[in-house]
Amino acid sequence: DVVPEIVRQIKHADLARRGLQESPWSRIIVEKPFGHDLASARELNTQISDVFKEHQIYRIDHYLGKETVQNLLVFRFANAIFEPIWNHHFVDHVQIAVTETLGVEKRGGLYDRSGAIRDMVQNHMMHLLSLIAMESPISLDADAIRDEKVKVLQSLRSLPPECAGQYVVRGQYAAGVTNGYKVAGYQEEPGVSPDSTTETFVALKLFVDNWRWANVPFYLRTGKRLPVRITEIGIHFKSIPQVLFNTERLGPMTPNVLTIRIQPNEGISMQFQVKVPGPQMKIQSYKMDFAYHDSFGKSPPDAYERLLLEAAAGDSTLFARNDEVEAAWAYLTPILCGCSHQEITKLPQYPAGSWGPQEADELIEADGRKWYLTRRQRPKLKENQS
Ligand code: BG6
Repeated sequence: DVVPEIVRQIKHADLARRGLQESPWSRIIVEKPFGHDLASARELNTQISDVFKEHQIYRIDHYLGKETVQNLLVFRFANAIFEPIWNHHFVDHVQIAVTETLGVEKRGGLYDRSGAIRDMVQNHMMHLLSLIAMESPISLDADAIRDEKVKVLQSLRSLPPECAGQYVVRGQYAAGVTNGYKVAGYQEEPGVSPDSTTETFVALKLFVDNWRWANVPFYLRTGKRLPVRITEIGIHFKSIPQVLFNTERLGPMTPNVLTIRIQPNEGISMQFQVKVPGPQMKIQSYKMDFAYHDSFGKSPPDAYERLLLEAAAGDSTLFARNDEVEAAWAYLTPILCGCSHQEITKLPQYPAGSWGPQEADELIEADGRKWYLTRRQRPKLKENQS
């Protein structure tokens, strides 16, 4: 709400120097949320660009400052073995999960006007999606990378409001147990309306309609008050043919899964089959694991440190460009519109500490697949704690 006024006042005080080589230079960093739908994001872009040129505007998204997110480009384009299989011929589906144990903390009032789609999907998850699905950029220049990212967002198969219910499951946390402690439901949080219909969980299925990803579903899931805090991307490869080891006698083979752990325990693992030693032909799934901490001895620095440094140095690679933000909103605005027309009955509640509403499982299971982060036992309540 205050950004347009701040920008006007910067102009009024003659502090916005627009020249590329001008010294001292001025740049503006704008924190998310950048608008609340396509129209408001466009308006904000217009208002800011009235004062600053695009090369001076740094739309910050702290996910882009995470070391593991930056590694996505390196992993994909500095290794020869993944690119040939990174497409619909070999990939069955992709899962992107951002699960949190936290609730809305002290931000109830702000969050209640936003919800999981605006708070997490429009920005953080769309960046993860575009980095995992993009084509190779022609160079490492900021615009070359962002050109490819935006193409992914522009290729998303649009979901008209009336179809939102078919591909999108929302949910809201009720009272439950998180990390062993009893916690209140979302509607009891300070600042939240007691009859709020804001979602704290969302699962959605989407398609990137281009040659590489034709008909490969991407399942996205994020929520607050889930059992664990994990952000990870899973590339689920196709099953092997139903011959040799993949027969009824030996049981169905688990398909290969490449998991990129964004946080915590940052790393990458590959699940593959091995023969269990012994006289019988017994096959088991194992993980080959790379962990940042084991290899480099320390955890990556805080994302904001990196981003503020980049902004000061004038490198906008790790910041969202105007068309990127608008493309993400262009895809999500009809979905938000569809959700806002749904009755409260379409907003199932899930107990804090659970994996979200059953409907989210049904969304993926209807396609014969399962969430990779599976349902685990509900954590036990710690004694004498509430
Ligand atoms: C913020 C959201 O952008 O990201 C919060 O507004 C969320 O609701 C946070 O908790 C998650 O960030 P991280 O780095 O802990 O995954």
